[in-house]
Amino acid sequence: MKILVINGPNMNLLGLREPDIYGRQTYEDLVETLKKKADELGVEISFMQSNHEGDLVDAIQQAYPDTDGIIINPAAYTHTSVAILDAVKAVGIPTVEVHMSDVKSRDEFRQVSYIRQACIATFMGKGFGSYIEALELLVSRA
Ligand code: DQA
Repeated sequence: MKILVINGPNMNLLGLREPDIYGRQTYEDLVETLKKKADELGVEISFMQSNHEGDLVDAIQQAYPDTDGIIINPAAYTHTSVAILDAVKAVGIPTVEVHMSDVKSRDEFRQVSYIRQACIATFMGKGFGSYIEALELLVSRA
């Protein structure tokens, strides 16, 4: 089973950005944590992060047809991007939306998620745990 983890803008600055919200662990720590979990579960995992909307669309398109599941934190593009929603719909790969923070209890403008309607589930507010739950869900469905 092949899983792709996609992270949007500013996720490369984990550890530095707003540590009260996102914690002190880095993007590299996130990658290491998920690699370990994927090993335990016996699945292949790969990663991409970009600050650019079109690159995220390209990564979703390129995931087809060799990827069995996508875990995506579109970050700020969650709340704005029809293009990322359409890409997920286009490829039809089971996709889980994740957020480090509990977006539900944050700003009004974070209450909209375009991508959510194309996702099989959403996990939020659990830091790296949101990604781990997404991985477990995708593996359990295989
Ligand atoms: C985020 C929440 C978004 O609202 C924000 O723009 C991010 C990160 C999260 O992981 O909690 O960049 O997706």
